[in-house]
Amino acid sequence: MTVPRLGKMKRDGERITMVTAYDATFARLFDEAGIDVLLVGDSLGMVVQGQTSTLPVTVDEVIYHCRAVARGTRRAHVVGDMPFLSWQVSEEEALRNAGRFLSEGGAQAVKLEGGVDAAPTIERIVHAGIPVMAHVGLTPQSVHAMGGFRVQGKTEAAAERVLRDARAVADAGAYALVLEGIPSDLAQRITEAVAIPTIGIGAGPHCDGQVLVCYDLLGLTPDLKPRFVKHYAEFFEEGVAAARRYRDEVRAGAFPSEEHGFGEVKKSETTPKSGLSLVQRARTAYGPKG
Ligand code: KIV
Repeated sequence: MTVPRLGKMKRDGERITMVTAYDATFARLFDEAGIDVLLVGDSLGMVVQGQTSTLPVTVDEVIYHCRAVARGTRRAHVVGDMPFLSWQVSEEEALRNAGRFLSEGGAQAVKLEGGVDAAPTIERIVHAGIPVMAHVGLTPQSVHAMGGFRVQGKTEAAAERVLRDARAVADAGAYALVLEGIPSDLAQRITEAVAIPTIGIGAGPHCDGQVLVCYDLLGLTPDLKPRFVKHYAEFFEEGVAAARRYRDEVRAGAFPSEEHGFGEVKKSETTPKSGLSLVQRARTAYGPKG
């Protein structure tokens, strides 16, 4: 999945699927499912680190998770999210940080939250050959300026501002645009106004694609179910039930049984011929395929 292919999907009316991922195992799961774009979102601050906002997340942390996601991905397009203050201080710092997501993180593009104010920086990063996905509307890194995680663009004047932001980032060369937390009709207007794909979250059904935080999609955040979220599984409940079964079996002595062990020590065996230890051989024999 590439930047030009995503543009073609919009032109062909093919909807784009995007999910966040933070490690190699989840990346593999979504890649295998045929998800088009994996976003290593700064939402990791909330769902992985347990913070109350995305603000404490650092460039090094997102790059660490990017590397893991890139290793677990074969087909999907991997995007690294530029965290709070990683692009605003100066264009030089923005460019250097953006480049690290590709050279160190293995991402194919970066995402940054910002509209008109971010346009010159986006242009600079894009000119350096780094594809930029923009993000307008409800931008969680501006949580304090917005007075909370609030839907944006609800009045005609506010909607015009979001539309101006969208046009500015598209003109600056962004290849795709996340629309978060805005009314559905505004998302539709923006989707029709810009040539680049729009990817919605809390933006209704008229965008060119959709993104969900993977923990929400899989039902791993049981206490948090805002209106725009849909659980496609209940992994948290299933995980608790599985962990309880494990606890009960270990306590009862039912697990591990002989079938999970490696038998008895052979009296005659010395060092294995292969040079591998018994545990290394078991890992090789029973480890993941492919
Ligand atoms: O960080 C994130 O997960 C995001 C998506 C919600 C778009 O920015």
